[in-house]
This record gives sequence, C-alpha cells and structure tokens, in this order.
Amino acid sequence: MCGIVGIIGNTPVAPQIVEALKRLEYRGYDSAGVATLEYGRLARCRAEGKLRNLEAKLSQSPLSGHIGIGHTRWATHGKPNETNAHPHATDKLAVVHNGIIENFRELKAALEAKGVRFETETDTEVVAQLVTYEMRQGRPPVEAVAVTLPRLRGAFALAFLFNGEDEVLIGARHGAPLAIGYGADEMYLGSDALALAPFTDDITYLEDGDWAILRRKGADIRDASGAMVQRPRHKIPAGSFMADKGNHRHFMAKEIHEQPEVVGRTLAHYVNFSAGRVELPFELPFDFKDLKRISISACGTAYLAGLVSKYWFERLARIPVEIDVASEFRYREAPLEPGELALFVSQSGETADTLASLRYAAAEKLHTLSVVNVPTSTMARESAVVAQTLAGVEVGVASTKAFTCQLTVLLSLAIAAGRARGTLSAEEEKELVDALIAVPGQMSEAMKREHDIEILARELSKAKDVLYLGRGTAYPLAMEGALKLKEISYIHAEGYAAGELKHGPIALIDETMPVIVIAPFDHIFEKTVSNMQEVAARGGRIILITDEKGALETGLDTLATIVMPSVHPVVAPILNSVPIQLLAYHTAVFMGKDVDQPRNLAKSVTVE
Ligand code: F6R
Repeated sequence: MCGIVGIIGNTPVAPQIVEALKRLEYRGYDSAGVATLEYGRLARCRAEGKLRNLEAKLSQSPLSGHIGIGHTRWATHGKPNETNAHPHATDKLAVVHNGIIENFRELKAALEAKGVRFETETDTEVVAQLVTYEMRQGRPPVEAVAVTLPRLRGAFALAFLFNGEDEVLIGARHGAPLAIGYGADEMYLGSDALALAPFTDDITYLEDGDWAILRRKGADIRDASGAMVQRPRHKIPAGSFMADKGNHRHFMAKEIHEQPEVVGRTLAHYVNFSAGRVELPFELPFDFKDLKRISISACGTAYLAGLVSKYWFERLARIPVEIDVASEFRYREAPLEPGELALFVSQSGETADTLASLRYAAAEKLHTLSVVNVPTSTMARESAVVAQTLAGVEVGVASTKAFTCQLTVLLSLAIAAGRARGTLSAEEEKELVDALIAVPGQMSEAMKREHDIEILARELSKAKDVLYLGRGTAYPLAMEGALKLKEISYIHAEGYAAGELKHGPIALIDETMPVIVIAPFDHIFEKTVSNMQEVAARGGRIILITDEKGALETGLDTLATIVMPSVHPVVAPILNSVPIQLLAYHTAVFMGKDVDQPRNLAKSVTVE
C-alpha cells in the first residue's frame, strides 16, 4: 500500500509530486507528505489525512526545490498522524516507503544500541537511520544504500533524497512495485505508471530486487547483486488512465453505471457473437480436458468472483475447483501437482497476497492464469496467461465494475472449459453465450430500479446489522453484498448461505434486523423461500432481490422486493450485482460517508 513518487527536474517539483500523489491516493490516504531540496537543504511538508490537507499546507508555505519525493500513506506501523507521515528524514536524507520492513525491530534495536534515537513508531524510520548510519561512517549515498538494502526483509519499495545532493534520487523495489519514467532532462519514480502519466509515457518497470540511481539525464539500474542491468522501456498509451467522474457525484456511481458498457466490451473480447461461441483471445499452454483440478486464489471482492466461478467450472466443465483467500493459500501447504491450473483474480494485479500466491504456484510448476484489470501490473507480467478484464480504470475503492467484468471473463473461461471437456454441447454453449450477450442490456434495465433502491437505502441506513442470504451462486453474491455495505457505510453486515442460517445466525434475527435475500427463480428457489419463511416467522424484515417469476411465486410479505429482469440462471449473479451495489452505495451516501475513499481502506493492498 502507500504511493510513492520521486522527481528530478528543472522547475519546482512539489506541484508535480502532489499531482502524481492524487493519482496514487487509491493506495492509501491516511496522511501525505513531500520533501524537496531548498537551496540544497532538505525541507519537508507533511499533513495528516487526505491529500487536500497537504495541498492546503503547501499553499501556505510552498516548497520550491527542483528535486523531491512524495508519499501518500496507508498506515501499517504507527498511527496515521503527522509524526508518522512520510517522508521520514534525518540530517542526511529523506525516504518514502511502501510496504513493510519485517525485521525492523531487530534493526532498530541494533541501531539503538549504537546510540541512534528514533522519533516515530514506523518501520520506515529504520531505513532512514540505517542509511544515515552508513553515511556517517563515510560512505557516499549510493554505497550507503547499497549496503543497507540487503539487510532489509519484507516486501517494500523505497525512494531516497539526499541532503546537498541535487543530482541523485535512488529508488528500490523489493516485492512492491516501482516504475521509472523518462522525461526530457527530467526523471521520475512512481509506484505505478498511472502516477507518472501526466509527465511521461516512457516507462521502465523495475524487477524484484532492482534498485536505480536517477540523474536528470537517465537512470542506472542495478539488480540485487549490484550488477548493472538493462530493463525494457515501455510506451504506455496516453488515455489508458483516463478517469473522471463524468456527471456522477462519485466514482463509485459512475463505475456502477458504466457496467453495461464495460461488461459488453469485455464480452466482445471473449465471445464470437455471431457464432454463439466463446473464443478466448489467447493461447493456453494446457488443455482444459487434461486438468484434474483448478486452484483459485484471490482477495476480497475478487475472491468472491472466484467463488462464483467455482460453481460455474464445476457445473459446466465438471472440473473440481479449490478456492482460497490468497493469504491462506500461500501458507497452507496444500498438495499441488505440477501441470495443474492455478487461477488468480485481481483488479489491480498488485495485491500482495495474490501475487505471492501466483509466485508460489509458479514455483510449484503449476500453470498460472490471471484474470486482471490492469494490463501493466506485476501479476499480468508474471502470469503465464493473462485474461484481461476490460473494465477500464476503477477509482472507487469499493470494487464494482471490475467484479462484474471478472465474472464475465470467468464464465467465458468456464464455458470454454466445458466445451473442451465435452461437458457442454454446442447448443448448450450457444444458449449460455446468448444469455451472456443479453446481460449488458439487462444491466441497463436493472439500473432503472435505482430510484426505488435509493428510497430503500434510507431504511437500511437505520440498521446496525444486516444479513445477506443466498444459495448457489447467490451465496458468494450475498457475501459480496455484505462486503460492499460494510466497507462503505460501516454498517455491520454478513453474507451467509441461506441453508446455513438455521445453524447459528438465525439467533440474531429480530424485528430490527434487515435480511437481504438474493433469490433468482432457479432450481433452488423453493429452498431459499423456506429459509425466508424461517426469517419471517421470527419478525426479520426481508428485502428480496429476485426476478418476475420469483416475485410471483414467493408468497411472502417483504419489506421490499426488487424485481430484476428474468435471465438465464447461470448469468444471474452478473446481473444481480447491480442492485446490491446500488443498495450499498445509496445507503452510504445517505449516511454522508465518503464512498470513494472509505476509512481505513486502500484500493491496492500491497502489504500482507
Ligand atoms: C472490495 C474490494 C477489495 C478488493 C481486494 C482485492 O470492494 O475492492 O476487497 O477486491 O482488495 O483487490 P484486487 O482485486 O486489486 O486484487
């Protein structure tokens, strides 16, 4: 997490650094800071909270240096206050850091034993003090960094600025992303190319263990052993990062409303509309028919997309699927066979746990396939096969359009797998493809329920706890509904398999508890209705999301019924994502919450 930027230029860099940090705020917004050299001397400006607080401070006391570093923080070690805000500095240097230095306690103790005093609770300050210590022993900056980096454990990226050194910036990448940007007599460092997009489209991604010495005329890149290396330069097309709110109040609203378009665009990439078949836009280094098992790992919403796809792969292609949250997969030492398929799902392609799982699976000689939204991400670069979701830039911290695009790609993959394994006939494939093709139009239709959902959201905003229930693919969707609500409204919510209700959670139900039931009219609809009856009998207030047939057949009094267009049951979770997203969004907006940047969260989670 955290976003880092460095610029070595020929005009005051602080405004550019702030501009770049705005594009990195998705990585955290607990505090922000900038350091530059003012007439050769280090100067810092830092502020607690969002970037606008830093901007306000800088407008009072501007920094004018032509070289500088900046940071937007998602707190790991130490409270999100100004003291713990980056850059951290000594009389020798300033440093910004993304990630975690796992062995900071032992390094700190060793330095303290040598009389070094610490001012903050952060792990970052250890890096500042270690390099400073080496410089006090007479080492020049580059050498001091060179001897310090091998002592640091964990996943991190760093950028250093040195007192009195107007011609040198150093960046290091160890497990967390860092890119170099090339300008005309100017050089840049950034956590990603998005941050640098206003200044340059000429980008090099550092590889793990790389570190780079930037001067105005270019960069020397070294690998972990200290040897000089060449890394490829990429042209990042202008426009790949366009993101504005359009006519919407929030990015999240815009992204919910974009879904018919981006799901359609994603579909067009995977489906031959006229032939009624899935055509994958890449070669596979394996044959689905030879697979004994798929292991899926992902985090948060992406995990829930993976969980929906477990139902699809097992039902349509008869492939057993194991699925884990990525933070568990990499440590549970599951027996894996070389040649099996490991599938990863991630919007950012940078999530630390998912990336580590990908590397773990690759080391175990599994085939790796990643469903990612950011094509330049580390996961996209390290996966054997990349299945891109064409959701476009997703800015809102709560994932919406990336989720439905992930579902679209995963269902396309499951259909392709079914065909390859002979478990889906051409007619069945065409029926599913036709159902998929209809989804964007049905999503637009579903948006028309927005006004009713907005009114319902006022009711939901009074709740302390909310339960979401579903069966089959509606079960992961129930969890996704609960996740969306809790992360942006801070109302406690849980998603449960409807049939599991009676094994415990039913004890929570009383007349204050809204229970949102997702129940399309499918082969298990009746079972879900029985579970709803159990809720109703205990006074629970039911909000039912169903289709026309389901609304007719329920025969139960509900607080509200949201009637969705009737669709093929297999694609229902893609469509039913719309009302659960709108319900969470309007509840949070009604409660006055910051829906695009909810507290404590960040868009890209690059720490374990
Ligand atoms: C929730 C949300 C998160 C992400 C999770 C994984 O709305 O957005 O749960 O889904 O942090 O992120 P990616 O998909 O970037 O790996």
